[in-house]
Amino acid sequence: MATQQSLVLESKQGALIISQRPIPQPQTGELLIKVQAVGLNPVDWKIQARGFLVESYPAVLGSDAAGDVEQVGEGVVGWEKGDKVFFQGFYRNERATFQQYTTIPADLVAKIPSKYTYSQAASIPVSLSCAIYGLYAPKPLGLGLNPNIDSSVKQTGQPALVLGGNTSVGLYAIQLLRYMEFNPIIAYASLKHFVYLKSLGATFIVDRQEVSLADLPSAVARASDKPLKVAFDAVGNAEAQEAGMSCLVEGGELITVNSTTKSDSDDGKIMLAVFGTVHLPHTRAFGKVLYERLPQLIEQDVVPARVEDLPNGLQGIVDGLQRLKRNEVSGVKLVGHPQEQSN
Ligand SMILES: NC(=O)c1ccc[n+]([C@@H]2O[C@H](COP(=O)([O-])OP(=O)(O)OC[C@H]3O[C@@H](n4cnc5c(N)ncnc54)[C@H](OP(=O)(O)O)[C@@H]3O)[C@@H](O)[C@H]2O)c1
Repeated sequence: MATQQSLVLESKQGALIISQRPIPQPQTGELLIKVQAVGLNPVDWKIQARGFLVESYPAVLGSDAAGDVEQVGEGVVGWEKGDKVFFQGFYRNERATFQQYTTIPADLVAKIPSKYTYSQAASIPVSLSCAIYGLYAPKPLGLGLNPNIDSSVKQTGQPALVLGGNTSVGLYAIQLLRYMEFNPIIAYASLKHFVYLKSLGATFIVDRQEVSLADLPSAVARASDKPLKVAFDAVGNAEAQEAGMSCLVEGGELITVNSTTKSDSDDGKIMLAVFGTVHLPHTRAFGKVLYERLPQLIEQDVVPARVEDLPNGLQGIVDGLQRLKRNEVSGVKLVGHPQEQSN
């Protein structure tokens, strides 16, 4: 049996080690992908630290990838060996991405536009999924603002707020709000990436080092004289959720990225937790719409995050996850390269 190198979580809350594992076979409707680049996400270190989401061990982690089609499963049309694609993996060993080969349903991949590298493409899926499921996907998955990802659907001149504007998820939320012509788009973020956030569509940045979450509602009121009905919490802690809710008017809605939060309503305001994945039975239909629209969306309207390439193959991912855990990464996506040798 052909084998590959994989980064494996040995046991619940155990160590991450590089291990030799079988290369999965593509089933009917699937592609086998040679993984060239993988994006790192906070969930990857949280699974190791907290022991959630994954049920059987040893477990391969990782859910962002770009690479080459290596083999086409039975019944697949439209893809051939050598096509360059990107996609969102999942928390099952044959779908996970911190390994050299993985499998994925052919209707949940998109072609990489020629102007982007593997690393740029690998930075997109999970963060964009979180933002787009939260804002656009039909209720109860998200706010249902644009379920067909249609460029003619606008909310011109309506204000929106993004807490955690500098997070990877926040960068996409800002761009998706710009796509629908929300204005102003208010970002709560440090000013480290002021020019960058403006270039993505934030029109008003509230400096989180100057303005406390308790004072955010008055800062938002200064930024817009219209009632705030849409807010996106890309931080995910209770303080950010509470501040986001306080900024809304009655009837307003907040998306939170903390998928373990129970959706709630208070004072005629709604808080909805998003789980941005294309892989669950109830999320898959919107996932197919997303992957059909994705190449055009990132060609024209939404740019990938800035990336930092990690050296040292799969071992480099372990070091990158530690940096994410220590909160040392800002305004950039860390990207690992499973085909490179680890020292
Ligand atoms: N539900 C889902 O489907 C889903 C999917 C993906 C991610 N997530 C979650 O979404 C959150 C963001 O993930 P990510 O990958 O986008 O993170 P990330 O890019 O690693 O976020 C780093 C940024 O977080 C910002 N930050 C930290 N604490 C903050 C606070 N209290 N207020 C405002 N900004 C703060 C920092 O911004 P400054 O530069 O301003 O300091 C830093 O730039 C994580 O909790 C993650 O687990 C959820």
